[in-house]
Amino acid sequence: MADRLVTDTLAKPDAALEQTLRPSAFNDFTGQAKVKERLEIAVEAAKRRGEALDHILLSGPPGLGKTTIANILAKAMGANVKATSGPTIEKAADLAGLLTNLEEGDVLFIDEIHRLQKTVEEYLYPAMEDFKLDIIIDQGPNARSVRLNLPRFTLIGATTRSGLLSAPLLTRFGIRERLDYYTTEQLQRILLRASGLLNVPIEDPGAHEIARRSRGTPRIAGNLLRRVRDYAEVRGDGRITSVLADKALGILEIDENGLDEMDKRILETVIVKFGGGPVGVSSLAVAVGEEPDTIEEVYEPYLIMEGYLNRTPQGRVATPRSYEKLGLKPLAGAQARLL
Ligand SMILES: Nc1ncnc2c1ncn2[C@@H]1O[C@H](COP(=O)(O)OP(=O)(O)OP(=O)(O)O)[C@@H](O)[C@H]1O
Ligand SMILES: [Mg+2]
Repeated sequence: MADRLVTDTLAKPDAALEQTLRPSAFNDFTGQAKVKERLEIAVEAAKRRGEALDHILLSGPPGLGKTTIANILAKAMGANVKATSGPTIEKAADLAGLLTNLEEGDVLFIDEIHRLQKTVEEYLYPAMEDFKLDIIIDQGPNARSVRLNLPRFTLIGATTRSGLLSAPLLTRFGIRERLDYYTTEQLQRILLRASGLLNVPIEDPGAHEIARRSRGTPRIAGNLLRRVRDYAEVRGDGRITSVLADKALGILEIDENGLDEMDKRILETVIVKFGGGPVGVSSLAVAVGEEPDTIEEVYEPYLIMEGYLNRTPQGRVATPRSYEKLGLKPLAGAQARLL
């Protein structure tokens, strides 16, 4: 049977559960210390001056807390949030509708902002910069442009691909923060908090075992916790110990290092099919049967961080650690050069 895919363990849980687990204040939010501190200062300063918060761009791989931070920021400012996403805003009129319904200080949260249409994006520039919106009313000979004043709002954009944002959009965000993968210790703390909220009896070593196999990602940790809880209730006495967590994760085919089938397929392809690399992301994507975007957004960042893969100008290259992981031997220098 195939191992579990990261995309399964990244699935978003239902809204009610998400609501329970999602930290609503910076105090409950573990990790991302520097980002947190900079944002807390920005909030405090804006509050003291009685101003709206600067526009903020949050980027990073899926499941690391972008939506969570956007909500924490709005709450800390005492602001309302209107949430939408790039692909849902189809026309400039949709955006105009959203913007004209905002009140002073409100937060407009645009998820997947890199997927905003170019035409829509252009309306956003003056709105972000001067809090003005130029709209065309009427058609034909009567058509005229009207300039509307908008309330001072805060745009919080979230993206897994900040590289895809156009320069004019990027530079209109006064604050840009990138979230990083979490350490095992941080994920362990997040798991202990979640277990408390879900009333799941868990021992520290049990939380540690789940944490270190969660690919540095809180959403994956939360999802694995619920699967391990099922196992504990059905096959154990309900208590999550490290031995039990290990058995449950074994059944879920979550690898010792949290790598899944696609991670391993990527490494194996680079090594076996492309002689260890360098290989471009599009060739790699075809060879493993996955979208290049997904490889770049979901799989690669973690493999690079964990030292399994290197990104060079020529393409992706396997590291000694990935050979070791797959039980393969790197070719000696001269031999490798002959390929
Ligand atoms: N620092 C944290 N402490 C505790 N829980 C967290 C933390 N960060 C994220 N979570 C939990 O992880 C889950 C995913 O977080 P969130 O939805 O904010 O991620 P995201 O970055 O917006 O992901 P996506 O890119 O898929 O939209 C949520 O259930 C949230 O409760
Ligand atoms: Mg999100």
